[in-house]
Order: sequence, then structure tokens, then C-alpha cells
Amino acid sequence: MSTITDANAAREPERVWGQHQAALLFLQAMLADPKVRLLRWLDLACGRGQIVSNLPRALSLSARSKLHYEGYDVHLDYTREVESRVSQMSLRSYKCEIGEISNFHKIYQTQKFDFVTFINAAHELRPNDLALVFSEGISLLSSRGQFFGYDVESPNPMELGAIPWARDEIGEILKAICREFGVPQYQPEISWWPHQSGTAWSLHVNRAHMHCAVNELSKRRGSAREAAMKTMRNLLEGKLASVKEQLIVRTHGPLKAEGDDMEARRRLLNDYWALSHVLAESAESKKDSPRKR
Ligand SMILES: C[S@@+](CC[C@H](N)C(=O)[O-])C[C@H]1O[C@@H](n2cnc3c(N)ncnc32)[C@H](O)[C@@H]1O
Repeated sequence: MSTITDANAAREPERVWGQHQAALLFLQAMLADPKVRLLRWLDLACGRGQIVSNLPRALSLSARSKLHYEGYDVHLDYTREVESRVSQMSLRSYKCEIGEISNFHKIYQTQKFDFVTFINAAHELRPNDLALVFSEGISLLSSRGQFFGYDVESPNPMELGAIPWARDEIGEILKAICREFGVPQYQPEISWWPHQSGTAWSLHVNRAHMHCAVNELSKRRGSAREAAMKTMRNLLEGKLASVKEQLIVRTHGPLKAEGDDMEARRRLLNDYWALSHVLAESAESKKDSPRKR
């Protein structure tokens, strides 16, 4: 399994998290269209169903009766929990699949979704898998489909092995993906959110704004993933060099760096481990993969 041990999916049924509220507002707006009779939602890395706990309060019965929910996660106990929860919610239909994120596209490749969510999970994935989620997740969108992604820039409390992605980096990755999809004029909006516990980004892709033919994205999704992986590798190498430099200054520098508390040092060490580990892993897997002729 490629998950990180420190990560876990929370479940607090009485609480509504801001990121889930934002996603549900997109869903509500789409379901309000009287022309929409069926709306297909794919929730990648769905966890224990924190977002679906809100459905009965956020959506009317008539809106829920148009909704097909599909959850995907690597943990069997999580997907079981989600299935049992959504079975009580008068949805049109629902299904959960268990699997590594590196395989999700094989299950859904012949399907289209009107809504794809990927919330609070980017920092837990290997970069190649994150590239897959973005490229394949977007290519699965129907002509009116929307993709909503959200994650913290750096988890708090820290999680060993978590990859920190900043808002601007997510923007760079999406720019590379859109270029490869043949829609360089489209720049998805990436927002930045300061919360009490740390900062976060959110990403919204609207398929209608891509203005390209129905099958165009499916045809180009492989090269979109490659472009995302290349961009991510460059970003990760740059981040590792910067973290290393900051640690060297703290180790040998003549003066204590401003704001250099134990928390900042721990975060740098944590990032150093996550970045060097993931880059070493990716170099290793490149060595093992058969050479292209
Ligand atoms: C922090 S939880 C977020 C859950 C949910 N999206 C939410 O917002 O409440 C991250 C989820 O990603 C899933 N996950 C992490 N790595 C994965 C992988 N390699 N393949 C599939 N799921 C993975 C975990 O099992 C976990 O449920």
C-alpha cells in the first residue's frame, strides 16, 4: 500500500468543514437545473464520508434523488462506512470501489462524471499519482462537468512523509496539464485560504470553459500526465534544494535565522525527509522501468 501511516480520515458528522461546504455548493447549483435529471459524482479518496454526512442537510430530497454517488478509497473499512451512510440518504444510486489511486482510471475509463471531488488527500499521494488524479480526473468530466480539489499546503499536525504543495505550485501543474490538453488559454482558478491551523489551496476546473471537443481530453490524458509529472519533479527538486539551504544556514550559519523556532526547524526536517524520500523513490522506479526504444 502506498499510503502514509500518519494520515487518517476524520469523521465528525455534526461538523461541516469549509472545503466540503464549498464543494456542496457547486453540487447544489448543478442539481438546481431542472434540465438535470441525473448527476454523476465521483469522490476520489473519499475517506469515511465526512462530506456525504452533510448531504441530507445541504440538499433537498428532490436534489438528492437525481444524484449518483461513487466513492473511491484504498481502505475497505472506509468505503464500507461510506456505503452504509449513503444508503440512508435517498440518493438515486451509489457505489463504492476500493483500490489504490494509481488504478482508479482503469475502473472509470468508459464513464463520464458531472462532478469530481478530490479533497484533503493531495499531500498523501506520490507525485505520479497526484498527476494521474488531475489528468485522468479532468478527462473523466462530462461536457458540463466540474472538478473540485482542496488540500492544506502543509498538514498541521505534521505527517511524516506528507508532500507539501503550495497554491502556486498547484497552479503550475494545472497550467502544464491544460497546455498538454490543447487548451493553453484556460487557466483554472486556484484559491488560497488562510485558516487557523494553516493555509490551504482549492482548485476548480470547469470542463465547459475548456472549449474543446468531447473526446479531446481522453486522447491527450497520457501526455497531460507526463507533463504534470515533469513539472512536479522540477518543483520538488527546487523545493528540496531550498529546504536544504535553509537547514544548512540553521546548522552552520553565524546568526540564528529570524523566526527560527523549534516548530520551523521540525517542519523543515519533515519536509526534507518527505522530499528526498519521494525523489529517491521516483528515481528508483525510473531505473526499474523498461527503457523506451
Ligand atoms: C485525509 S483523508 C480525506 C478523506 C475525504 N476526502 C475527506 O475530505 O474527508 C485522505 C484519504 O485519502 C485516502 N488515500 C490516501 N492514499 C491513497 C491511495 N494511495 N489510494 C487511494 N486512497 C488513498 C486515504 O485512505 C484517506 O481516506
